[in-house]
Amino acid sequence: MKTYLVGGAVRDELLGLPVREKDWVVVGSTPEAMLAAGFKQVGKDFPVFLHPKTHEEYALARTERKTGQGYHGFSCYSSPDVTLEQDLSRRDLTINAIAKAESGDIIDPFQGQQDLKNKIFRHVSPAFSEDPVRILRIARFAARFRSFGFKIADETMALMQHMVQSGEIDALVSERVWQEMLSALSEEHPSAFFLVLRACGALARLWPDLDCLWGIPQPEQHHPEIDTGVHVMMALDLAAKLSPDTQVRFAALSHDLGKGKTPEKNWPSHRGHEELGVACIEAFAGRYRIPHEYRDLAILVSRYHLHCHRAFELRADTMLKTLEALDVFRKPDRFEKFLLACTADARGRKDKEQEAYIQVDRMRAAYQIAKGVNVDRLREQGLTGEKLGEKIHQERVRAIAAGFDEHQSRY
Ligand code: CTP
Repeated sequence: MKTYLVGGAVRDELLGLPVREKDWVVVGSTPEAMLAAGFKQVGKDFPVFLHPKTHEEYALARTERKTGQGYHGFSCYSSPDVTLEQDLSRRDLTINAIAKAESGDIIDPFQGQQDLKNKIFRHVSPAFSEDPVRILRIARFAARFRSFGFKIADETMALMQHMVQSGEIDALVSERVWQEMLSALSEEHPSAFFLVLRACGALARLWPDLDCLWGIPQPEQHHPEIDTGVHVMMALDLAAKLSPDTQVRFAALSHDLGKGKTPEKNWPSHRGHEELGVACIEAFAGRYRIPHEYRDLAILVSRYHLHCHRAFELRADTMLKTLEALDVFRKPDRFEKFLLACTADARGRKDKEQEAYIQVDRMRAAYQIAKGVNVDRLREQGLTGEKLGEKIHQERVRAIAAGFDEHQSRY
């Protein structure tokens, strides 16, 4: 039996990147021999084993054949006579179909090294189109390797477009879409993921409310980039610069979905888009069953991002109501995420990236003032229930108004 390092580990090593996870292919062995050598079998569909010490994955060389829609629709064949080349030929991209032998020799039947050098994502064989997850994978690799300047080979893009048109993309299960999207959101340039999905037509199927934003104008005065799709991509990448938190990034990405619902006759104005966007986020969250924290932050950012932009114009009462709606007193950490997403929106515009966004300081100052109101003192006055709630609100409004007057005189 022979073992080879394969997949992402070889690719990343050749790119000079740290290796995240090592996957191995075993040629000339059987499940019985693997078990006898102390390996543990994982997963019942494929002959994959964990090494007794390193716990790295060792898969028996296999071929795959499509038998139905989606990724359960495969039958796989493994036996000691399946060759390394056969195993490599079932893989998605040439850059992922390179193997490294124990001797250090590179086995590269599909010229993956050439494509790595030329920075090209190219499919290995027409079997690429049998697995729609591969569209998401290319999009995710585009986000991860953006700084290398990878391009998708024309024939691969044509194949991806065909997979969308033929409906193969609809076989994707929601969990997998969200999993890949989340992984793309954690990359340095997450916008590349959405741009690739858009280019092959997949975005229109997977997230039509996002896809339709391209071509929708916004007022040039606030949005020199004009196009809403361009703006949300800028906001997303800026969010990625501002914070590693994928909740913040998702909220920045979805803050303007409501602009897709503005009647065309009202363009470039988008009055009321904040609330219209909430329904879009709820629909997306339901379809892909995304975690509540992602959905809730995104909804708050959609609903209140203009309040944040107008922080200096808000009356004390409206400011407090906004803070209450954001539930800042119970969720101060989420408030910080909200402020980051609003910053990404404000600065994720053409020529605005370096501009100061002091509205967040105003919001934070209002929160600190409101938090400083002594609730115990009010309780000691014998107030309870609704009466106490009203009094706290009044006192906080008064404190914010007084604090703002002082603040104003300082600026
Ligand atoms: N693979 C494939 N098609 C898929 C998933 C995986 O062909 N839908 C193959 C590729 O050769 C890939 C290898 O299986 O390189 C390992 O897959 P995985 O660990 O999921 O991805 P990596 O390419 O290693 O990338 P990552 O760095 O994200 O783990």
